[in-house]
Amino acid sequence: MTAEERLGAEKWVPRGADLGELRNAVQSCRGCELWRPATQAVFGDGSPSARMMLVGEQPGDREDLSGEPFVGPAGAVLDRALQAAGIARDEIYVTNAVKHFRFEERGKRRIHSKPGVAHIVACAPWLEAELDAVDPDLIVCLGATAARAVFDRTVAIGGERGRLQPARGRQALVTVHPSSILRLRADADRSAAFDALVADLRVGAEALGLSRR
Ligand code: URA
Ligand code: SF4
Repeated sequence: MTAEERLGAEKWVPRGADLGELRNAVQSCRGCELWRPATQAVFGDGSPSARMMLVGEQPGDREDLSGEPFVGPAGAVLDRALQAAGIARDEIYVTNAVKHFRFEERGKRRIHSKPGVAHIVACAPWLEAELDAVDPDLIVCLGATAARAVFDRTVAIGGERGRLQPARGRQALVTVHPSSILRLRADADRSAAFDALVADLRVGAEALGLSRR
């Protein structure tokens, strides 16, 4: 990173902006080096008055190309899990801890590469601005990167998942990232992991009185 890039996203985030203005402004962000090889920034999407905000890790290959969060394979798992938990995706707000896709090129393929703590910290002002604008009652962290961004500490997902905890002046809970389910080889493991994700999402839905069951 250059000296300028080490500053983080702060100076690119317009103060008091609404979601539309933030979504435009994020395309100009140079808060870390991830903007350079990516196609575009992927901002959050969903209800501007959502009571539940889901936070993922970073856009994947498909999200980088389309500009929308969770539209690829992980998004398909997430959509099924939300439906099983009785949560309507258009009533919530879905975003990522890091707004640009970090990847390595292997031949013609772009392989996902986990964002580092420096990227999470650099990108945090955008998440903060989304929290200010949407003002949700509950934040659901999908995986360790999201949990790091929301809680400002290292979170062991296995030990803390599925329970309500205070964070950023509201309630939060952590669960697994939907990609972790896709990585499981055995059908039985995948199905158990999916059910556990749904159970965690239900804890959130019930806390908000959202669940349709
Ligand atoms: N994984 C994420 O964490 N976010 C996305 O938007 C897509 C995949
Ligand atoms: Fe800015 Fe975040 Fe993109 Fe880095 S990843 S350039 S901080 S929007």
